[in-house]
Amino acid sequence: MSSSRIIPVPAFDYVVFGATGDLTRRKLIPALYYRFKDGQFDEQSRIIGVSRTAWDDKKFKDVARQAVGEFVEKSFQDKETIDRFISCFSYVTNDVTDKEGWAELRDSLREDENIVRAFYLAVAPNIFEPICTYLARRKYWRESARVVVEKPLGHDLESSMEINDAIAKVFSEDQVYRIDHYLGKETVQNLLALRFANKMFEPIWNSAHIDHVQISVAESVGAGTRGYYDESGALRDMVQNHILQLLCLVAMEPPASDDANALRDEKLKVLRSLKPITGESVGRATVRGQYRGVSSETTSVAGYQDELPDDKKGSRTETFVALKAEIENWRWAGVPFYIRTGKRLATRVSEIVIQFREIPHSIFDRAEGAPKANKLVIRLQPDEGVKLFMMIKDPGPGGMRLREVHLNLSFAETFADRTPEAYERLLLDVIRGNQTLFMRRDELEAAWRWVDPIREAWDAASEPPQPYTAGTWGPTGSVALIERDGRTWHEESDF
Ligand code: BG6
Repeated sequence: MSSSRIIPVPAFDYVVFGATGDLTRRKLIPALYYRFKDGQFDEQSRIIGVSRTAWDDKKFKDVARQAVGEFVEKSFQDKETIDRFISCFSYVTNDVTDKEGWAELRDSLREDENIVRAFYLAVAPNIFEPICTYLARRKYWRESARVVVEKPLGHDLESSMEINDAIAKVFSEDQVYRIDHYLGKETVQNLLALRFANKMFEPIWNSAHIDHVQISVAESVGAGTRGYYDESGALRDMVQNHILQLLCLVAMEPPASDDANALRDEKLKVLRSLKPITGESVGRATVRGQYRGVSSETTSVAGYQDELPDDKKGSRTETFVALKAEIENWRWAGVPFYIRTGKRLATRVSEIVIQFREIPHSIFDRAEGAPKANKLVIRLQPDEGVKLFMMIKDPGPGGMRLREVHLNLSFAETFADRTPEAYERLLLDVIRGNQTLFMRRDELEAAWRWVDPIREAWDAASEPPQPYTAGTWGPTGSVALIERDGRTWHEESDF
């Protein structure tokens, strides 16, 4: 079954600062290629790479060609399309302080007001300010210009406000596109369809019918040697942004429309209703961990400390977080949201589990089996899909026996199409001027306000993160966190 509907976007000048970096190569170029291949834009558009590295057009084109070769599925690569796509690329060497570089960039931009102008800042946030100061000049700035930024947008509320202030001096909020790539994932957007395009869920989507919610984002890879990770840790890297966004989409009230601000207003209300986890409650409601290596005859996996350079050894950065979040409003009072995320866990899986309450009374006797409470599992990746766990009668003539089965909607089996990458949607939403899937400043700041006290309590604590063995589900404290409430984590084998 084909599901794609391609709506071409107007021609654009996409200026990518930090064009020589990994994000451009691994994510932005392949995503743009897929959109080009689908005919969503053509050679009328330009992709202008900017960086202080002394490259020329040819070098950038070569790198773009390699990126397509390496990161685009082979069946989507064809020489004629690649040649046309690469013809959109050009490059400007520009150190932020270098006047000549800016003049060259200015000359590569087209004056025509119908051509959408977007600036993607794939650079460290400490140079947002000098870049924006230049972009404020008449030759670059125009009311319809857009600026795209992504995390890390600060390491706490204060630093995030500084970054946002620097951007706001030049660009108004409706020109700013803050990427959280989880919002670009098909299955995350599907949460909106699931909740608001079906009648059956909304009446039971509340504390009267839902016992608790679990959000797990597990990765099997390690933190690697990314210097940034040690400064950040799992709470800032995954919870402050991606996981809180998922929580908002699950918990928010139905917005009046899918207008960007209507949706973001509702997400903001959820963030503001999160019960603060501060001081003493941090010990009860949160667990942090750090992976240790394993070596056996068959495998050898380095621990987090082993991967760090000498001057960082002894780091207390967490590579795992589990926590119990509570939302203080009418819909969710008394319904915990258990969250866990980490590196080097047993498998790579992201899923949301809506655990319904038990039936109020069973008409079946014990020998027939106890009815298990229903559960809706929304699998974001891999094997995207939705499963509804429900009870049926075990087939056969042997009398009444209850059995749990699941209704399974597997996206891969239902839709033949390739699942687009998050950046495909997001990069072109910028051109379309659609901010629905981007974080508004107040959302970002509300998320920091909730996360900061947890971080501060951890920093003040004398004990380090709990160790866990690479390839497991995290420290034992994570199991204790949920079992204390008489509940258990949904495991892969339950799926
Ligand atoms: C990024 C984090 O934002 O998300 C990474 O910085 C993490 O540490 C990644 O690995 C996970 O994204 P995905 O799309 O692979 O789930």
